[in-house]
Amino acid sequence: MIKSSHFSPKSNNMHAMNSKRDNRIKEFLSLSLERCLKEVGAQTGSIFLLEDSKKELILEVAHHISDIPLESVRKRMGEDIVGVVALQRKSLLVRDIGKEANLKRINSSRRYRSSSFISVPMQARGELVGVINITDKFDGTPFDNNDLNTVERIANYLGIAIHSLNNYVIEQYRLNEQLKKEIAELKDSINQLEKFASIGKMIGGFVHEVNNPLDGIIRYVNLALDCLDEDSLVKSYLTEAKKGLNRLVRFVKVILDFFWGLSLKDKEINIVEAIEEAFLMRCNCFSLYNIKVEKIFPPNLPNIPDFGIKVVFDNLIKNACEAMKEGGVLKVTVLWENGGIKIIFKDNGVGIPKEIQAKIFEPFFTTKSMGEGAGLGLAISREIINRYQGKIYVKSELCKGSEFTVYIPLIN
Ligand SMILES: Nc1ncnc2c1ncn2[C@@H]1O[C@H](COP(=O)(O)OP(=O)(O)OP(=O)(O)O)[C@@H](O)[C@H]1O
Ligand SMILES: [Mg+2]
Repeated sequence: MIKSSHFSPKSNNMHAMNSKRDNRIKEFLSLSLERCLKEVGAQTGSIFLLEDSKKELILEVAHHISDIPLESVRKRMGEDIVGVVALQRKSLLVRDIGKEANLKRINSSRRYRSSSFISVPMQARGELVGVINITDKFDGTPFDNNDLNTVERIANYLGIAIHSLNNYVIEQYRLNEQLKKEIAELKDSINQLEKFASIGKMIGGFVHEVNNPLDGIIRYVNLALDCLDEDSLVKSYLTEAKKGLNRLVRFVKVILDFFWGLSLKDKEINIVEAIEEAFLMRCNCFSLYNIKVEKIFPPNLPNIPDFGIKVVFDNLIKNACEAMKEGGVLKVTVLWENGGIKIIFKDNGVGIPKEIQAKIFEPFFTTKSMGEGAGLGLAISREIINRYQGKIYVKSELCKGSEFTVYIPLIN
């Protein structure tokens, strides 16, 4: 229903919206009333609109009724002629009010010069929108049925037009609100991206610093190995150290590639091999925390571009181990789905409380103590999965365990 200027706004925005709408509707009503007066050859008229509560009619426009301040005129349903016409939803043609005792009684506030007038309800889709009143014919004669038909025709059109105009403005308001919400969400994402970009720079810088001495260390380890006898105990220690160093080199490379944007697009990696290597990197945890590992892989899994997927698997395995320090089972299932590949890591560890599930992919979000977790594992993983245009999501229940799913579409 029409929200008149008397509608109490819920917010400043709504208020601005309403006054804009009021102005547009008022202007439209004023022009329509003028047109109606011209068509029936009358000089005075008014339009009342039904307000939100549907209990009162409010005078919105009046032509040539100079002594009435518009805002102050309100009629309850059934009050005065306007209220009766609205209540009964029936047009009224009065040729001479002096001869209509009933109407004279109802019409306590009448102050027009003419004794003849027309009052017609405006409706749209069976609902009352307002009432239009016309009086004071220029030639002083009373109104007749032709005049009534003309006013009814215009009232019909006005009812539908006001209804549509009102819907249009409400829809605009809704779209405006939606747009605001979308802009706020976009700002949020930009903030996240900026936050992530600065973290990226920091980690990139840090890893770069680690990378520089690594080359030298490996070279010297190789030189030392060459100098040692095959059966030397020191040689076996250094060989172990070299394996660890090689793993570090690979990891640093993935991170550097990721943060400095160096493309690994040309390289490919087999999904099963990537998972197995990630398990190998964490093999100590399984015996330390008494964790059983189950793997279900279908045959012939394809190669995928190497955008750092191993880092993702490593983070998921590391998190699962940290959630099962009292022991448990880590089950990894790989399956084909919708032309892509799903990799599910399911643990029966401590689980994640519902209220933090939405935050765990945010950079620096951690529930672990200082030195134990930086809160970057899942944030980095999500960025890597984005590179595959894939998805990563979690289902978890407190005290029962968590299930992280990675979906990688296979794009030809
Ligand atoms: N499998 C899991 N079980 C229970 N909680 C988990 C699991 N995986 C992630 N979480 C929760 O999500 C948080 C964020 O994980 P994320 O890997 O991003 O950071 P982190 O493990 O705390 O630190 P980092 O990975 O940088 O060492 C964790 O602190 C933990 O609360
Ligand atoms: Mg982690």
